[in-house]
Amino acid sequence: MAQQRWDAVDDYFSSRLIGTDPVLEAALADSDTAGLPTIAVTGSQGRMLNLLARMCGARRILELGTLGGYSTIWLARALPADGRLTTLEVSAAHAQVARSNLARAGLTEQVEVRVGPAVDALAALADGPPYDLIFLDADKRSYPDYLQACLSVSRPGTVLVADNVVRGGAVVDADSADVAVQGVRRFTDLIAAEPRLTATAIQTVGSKGYDGFLLAVVTD
Ligand code: SAH
Ligand code: DHB
Ligand code: MG
Repeated sequence: MAQQRWDAVDDYFSSRLIGTDPVLEAALADSDTAGLPTIAVTGSQGRMLNLLARMCGARRILELGTLGGYSTIWLARALPADGRLTTLEVSAAHAQVARSNLARAGLTEQVEVRVGPAVDALAALADGPPYDLIFLDADKRSYPDYLQACLSVSRPGTVLVADNVVRGGAVVDADSADVAVQGVRRFTDLIAAEPRLTATAIQTVGSKGYDGFLLAVVTD
């Protein structure tokens, strides 16, 4: 019952506020055909990422966890013409689907898909200019490892958005055997102890069930 209602509400707002987009729909369809898991953000969530990027005037965006590039397209569309997005993906197969979806979206010039473990790519990016917005959505067990690396490619004002921090409510199970839950808990504790970050977490329900986002901004 609850899930049906969440779906209906997602459909309601989505139909009025977001509408349909052949490029985004093709990205999901091709991801499906290629056998990728159906775990991309929803349309409403994609629009939220797009709005956050526009609200902070992002010109340089970093994403961890590309999958088929669905969230990447939403984020990259927030960029000005000379803006750039780098997205990190461990799976060469996922990256290949993403590149094709990004090409259809006309974003090949603006988006770089880097294949390999995100920790390695982050280390390589540490010497470059900081990012304006970072979207964490790769393996949840490694969120704690990603935090320091993300801070080292940040500046005061950088916005951090982390997906999947509620996990059906399992985040409150301190003794959970789920490495994703433990990763999110450690990540949250590290953020709590980090004076350079001001953060909150927002629980969400919708067509992806019950989950949530952690939002943070880097301060001086
Ligand atoms: N952001 C996407 C969904 C990402 S799903 C969207 O909303 O459209 C998580 C992705 O992270 C998967 O494609 C998975 O292969 C990738 N991933 C898992 N472990 C990783 C790692 N260590 N480094 C980089 N990417 C990783
Ligand atoms: C999974 C990953 C995600 O990024 C997500 O939004 C939902 C599920 C997963 O790995 O199962
Ligand atoms: Mg996610």
